[in-house]
This record gives sequence, structure tokens and C-alpha cells, in this order.
Amino acid sequence: MALFNLNINGKSHQVDLDPNTPILWVLRDHLDLVGTKFGCGIAQCGACTIHLDGTAIRSCQLPISAVEDSQITTIEGLSKDGDHPLQQAWIEHDVPQCGYCQAGQIMTAAALLKENPNPTDADIENAMNGNICRCGTYTRIKAAIKTAAKSA
Ligand code: FES
Ligand code: FES
Repeated sequence: MALFNLNINGKSHQVDLDPNTPILWVLRDHLDLVGTKFGCGIAQCGACTIHLDGTAIRSCQLPISAVEDSQITTIEGLSKDGDHPLQQAWIEHDVPQCGYCQAGQIMTAAALLKENPNPTDADIENAMNGNICRCGTYTRIKAAIKTAAKSA
């Protein structure tokens, strides 16, 4: 066990854990930030996507020992009142079906729009390629990202 100081959604947290603990489980089991989901656990589905210093990463494969000096953002911290342009566009397009993958989808899309505010269809497809949706909401996800890009 070791003590770690984490900066998550602008707040400091201290946890005493095995350095190999994936940050996903720190968020969900120790800090009650359960918006980030466990899908595959092997960095293949995107359900666990968070931002590390603004970059979209898979939290299921990243140990706590690798994130101590970084700014972590989860879906809970993406916006103050759920009013990020992507969250608004997600509502407008009624994107989710079961909803399980959607936090990861939004976090990946948010990192894309931050880096590329006017993505082409190909840019969107490339960026979102690794985020799996078993309900097949891909068409609505793409439409919502385009709407958010226009409104941002
Ligand atoms: S749970 Fe992390 S990529 Fe699937
Ligand atoms: S909305 Fe069900 S997995 Fe994506």
C-alpha cells in the first residue's frame, strides 16, 4: 500500500492503495465516482474513458502510480451542470439506448473537440473508433458530435 494524492475534477483526494490499482477502481470503489464504467477491463471497449491532462485514456489499464501528478477529469467533472455542448447535443439527439457506454463516448468526443473543434466525418470516425456501443448508437453519436461542434 502507498499514499497517493490525486487531482480529480479540480479536487484533491488522498488514497492509500496498492500502486498497481487501476484508476478506474479508485474512482468507482474508493471515491464513489461511478459515472466511469467497467466494460472489458483490457483497454478494448472505451467504457472507462477519462481525461488525463486533457487526453482521453482508458482508466481500466492505468495504475494509480502513473497518474499522481496529472489532472484527471471524469464524466462528473466534464461540466458544472451537465451543460457541456456534447451533453446538450446528446440530449437533443436522444443518443443513449441502455446508456452503459455513453460516459466513455462523451469523454472521447470531448477530447476530440478540444483538440479539433471542427472535425470532419473521418476525424470523428477515427477518434470514436475504439469506443464500442453494443446498442449500436453510432449514427446518433456522430450526429451529436457534429451538433456540439457547431454550437461550441
Ligand atoms: S473497460 Fe476499459 S476499455 Fe473496456
Ligand atoms: S447505449 Fe448501450 S452500449 Fe451504448
